[in-house]
Formats: sequence, structure tokens, C-alpha cells
Amino acid sequence: MKKIIIANWKMNPDTELEAVSLTQKIDSENLIIAPPYPFLGAVRKSQKLSKLGAQDVFWEAKGAYTGEVSVTQLKSLGVQYIVLGHSERRILGETNDAVVKKVKAVVSLGLIPVICIGDGLSDKIAGRSEVAVMDQLMPTIEALKSFKSGKIIFAYEPVWAISTQKDAKPDNPENARNMILKIKNKVLDEGLKGLEFHFIYGGSVNGLNAGGFLKYDEIEGALVGGASLKPDELTRILKI
Ligand code: PGA
Repeated sequence: MKKIIIANWKMNPDTELEAVSLTQKIDSENLIIAPPYPFLGAVRKSQKLSKLGAQDVFWEAKGAYTGEVSVTQLKSLGVQYIVLGHSERRILGETNDAVVKKVKAVVSLGLIPVICIGDGLSDKIAGRSEVAVMDQLMPTIEALKSFKSGKIIFAYEPVWAISTQKDAKPDNPENARNMILKIKNKVLDEGLKGLEFHFIYGGSVNGLNAGGFLKYDEIEGALVGGASLKPDELTRILKI
């Protein structure tokens, strides 16, 4: 089975020139590049094989929302995938309610949401990782019940595993697989007919450890942050 690799560049690089150069180096099939908003157009123009993603969106269709960007605007630039509910946005105040509204807006217009859910370090220490993950998962499942078609990607990203966190370590692939199985079973239990689901892992994935995660059928891909800015690393992941 082909795996999905999503390059989440976060707020990098600094210039359009660098974004284009990076795109040319990593462009490949099965890769989705999610650059910052200002570089979407330029990255799109330099893509030959990869697909375009965005890192966020606003839920309203249009109007007086200074600083926000709509699904239609992203779609007009060639965006097909939109990362939603990333922990770095949740830390800045994004709530489950906001994520739900965004999921609905994205699926309504036929784009593919990449919904990030994950436990924090305190959840892990308190042994409540599954509870924390389900708290984020359930509202989105409810939101998806009104749709009869669409493709949805869930990214399990334990916050403590994201490379920019202090003392971050990737999850153990076996644990990641187990949590993904729990997420998948929950989603499938809800009998959401007509929707197609995929489940990926994110958190300190690099060229050395990617194989450990991707060898499992249940882990259908990876959301890659830091390593996606390093062409050699990303190429290694893509080869796996
Ligand atoms: P990382 O980031 O690969 O640098 O840990 C992943 C993410 O935040 O999506």
C-alpha cells in the first residue's frame, strides 16, 4: 500500500525563493507539501508530482474576518489537503469547537482534512493518553456524521513527541500503532458510511526511524515537521 507523507513546514522557510528551491528538491509522488500561506502559489507552480496542503483555514466562507483565509481561497490556489487542530495551534488557543467548524467547512467543499489529535506530556505521565486523544476525536466524529462522502485523514501526534518540544522523543512505533488502532476502531465503530478514512503518525519522524512506523499496515503515513525541511532526510523517508 502507498503511504501518505505530509511535509508540514510550519513557519519556514523565510523566503519564497527558498520555498521554491526546497519544493524542487523534494517534489515526489505520495508527498503533500504544506507550506506557509504566503508561499502556496509559488510552491504549487513548482510542483510536478507532489500535492499541495495548507496548515490551517478559517471556517467562514467570506466576510469581515481580518487575517483569516477561507477554504475557497485555498482551493483556488490548488490546495487539496488542510491540516487542522495541530497541537501548535491548540496551544495558541484553538478549541475542539473551532476544529469541528473547520472540519465541516473543509469537507463541505470536497477538500481533505488532516485532523491532528494527540496527548500532551501531562496526559502521558498521568496515564490518560487515550482519554485525551478520545476527547479530541469524538467531537470531530460527531461533525462528520452529517457527511455522506469525503476523504479524511487522522494524524496521531503525541505532543511530547513533536521535535520542537523540550526533550522530545518519537513515540515507540508499537505504541503509536496501538493508539492508531484505538482511534481507527472508534471511528469505524461509529459507522460513518461513505467516508474514506486514513490514519497516520507524526512526531519526530526522520529518515532513520520512519521505517519503524511505516512498516505497520495500520500506520498509513507520516506527518513530518523538522525533517521535511531537510531534503536528504525527507528523501530517505520517501524511499521507505
Ligand atoms: P516534527 O513535527 O516532525 O518536527 O516532530 C511534526 C509536526 O508537528 O507535525
